[in-house]
Amino acid sequence: HVRRQLIAGNWKMNGLRADGLDLARSLAAWLDADGTAVRDHVDMLVCPPATLVAPVADTIAGTSLGVGGQDCHAADKGAHTGDVSAWMLKDLGASHVIVGHSERRTDHHETDEQVRAKATAAMAAGLVPIICIGETESERDAGQALAVVSRQFNGSLPDGATGTNVVIAYEPVWAIGTGRTPTTEDVAEIHQRIRADARERMGATAEALLILYGGSVKPGNAAELMAIDDVDGALVGGASLKAADFQAIASAC
Ligand code: G3H
Repeated sequence: HVRRQLIAGNWKMNGLRADGLDLARSLAAWLDADGTAVRDHVDMLVCPPATLVAPVADTIAGTSLGVGGQDCHAADKGAHTGDVSAWMLKDLGASHVIVGHSERRTDHHETDEQVRAKATAAMAAGLVPIICIGETESERDAGQALAVVSRQFNGSLPDGATGTNVVIAYEPVWAIGTGRTPTTEDVAEIHQRIRADARERMGATAEALLILYGGSVKPGNAAELMAIDDVDGALVGGASLKAADFQAIASAC
């Protein structure tokens, strides 16, 4: 691989304290013992629900495992009941925050403009936003996948984004939690397009940009997906909730 890889686990709305801390503890222990060969070329990150960011951060402090948030508000602070700011996540020890996940775009009607504001806030707080983009099944069937992904990339990317201060996750909506994945050719085509768009926006730093694939990544398909040029790691949902599966995916890089 030309770039250091990133395997990020998105726990979504899963995990009570005991199980979440067990999972984080075993991943961190593995990464710093049996997983050292993986650690040499792969960063591993868990994104627990907001309730567990603090205890997970405390549990994994001093290990090679990282922790991130699943969303942040665009404002630093203020009257936004129930929301969490990028600064609050940073304060707990987070290094990354997912923004614009398709579940946020659907459940909370987030637009590219809002995602971009969140990513901007994350960068200002010193977090790396993992900006999620991806087409729906009907958009793919209509032959619009490339156009949709390109539009979301350009609409969601903050000014000042470079290849090292943001991460992109390509997640076809129809592949999330379904067990279905695009063909390797389709993944390659989209990732190449994102890289080309990134060159337009970021210049030479686009070569360093991590473009993750997400959507039904499992131990059984990880090696094939991670071997694709311009795939620089994975954003893993369901399979990140089992230490053995998540480790197997990282080992496939
Ligand atoms: O953020 C993660 C993705 O939505 C993928 O979820 O691995 O359960 O398909 P999944």
